[in-house]
Amino acid sequence: MLSVGFDAERTPYDALGGEEALRALVETFYDRMNEAAPHIRSMHPADDSTSREKLFEFLSGWLGGAALYEEKYGHPRLRGRHAPFAVDQRAVEDWLGCMAYALDERGVEGELRAFLDGRFAHVANFMRNC
Ligand code: HEM
Repeated sequence: MLSVGFDAERTPYDALGGEEALRALVETFYDRMNEAAPHIRSMHPADDSTSREKLFEFLSGWLGGAALYEEKYGHPRLRGRHAPFAVDQRAVEDWLGCMAYALDERGVEGELRAFLDGRFAHVANFMRNC
């Protein structure tokens, strides 16, 4: 169970359990998408290994760990990078549903879970473009 707190000294990245835990979260998220979310799975390439790596790299910096995505690709410009895809309400809900599943599977609870649920919802809704 992961319900430890975080603050300026202890980032959400650390509270989650660092690199290994974040990788596991992203793998579970995409595995769930493959199993249960065909609407958004179909927007991704058949081989989703790069999608997995990019989400891991992005979340690392976004949660207070190493800024791996920015080092490789520069500013994320997330909304622009999602513009080619029809991100509708269902896509937002599917994405958040896969992430909630992954967070459940990883046992992320308490203050950390509330914080992540809120931030993911904010970004996912910002990505909506139709
Ligand atoms: C709202 C529903 C969302 C949908 C349907 C969606 C879908 C996609 C798709 C189809 C790609 C391209 C994958 C590829 O080229 O391999 C992508 C890339 C990406 N997504 Fe999302 N996404 C959503 C929300 C989010 C959220 C909430 C985040 C971050 C918290 C996020 C982070 C990323 C990142 C970092 C990339 C890689 C961008 C790049 O460099 O090409 N996405 N997404």
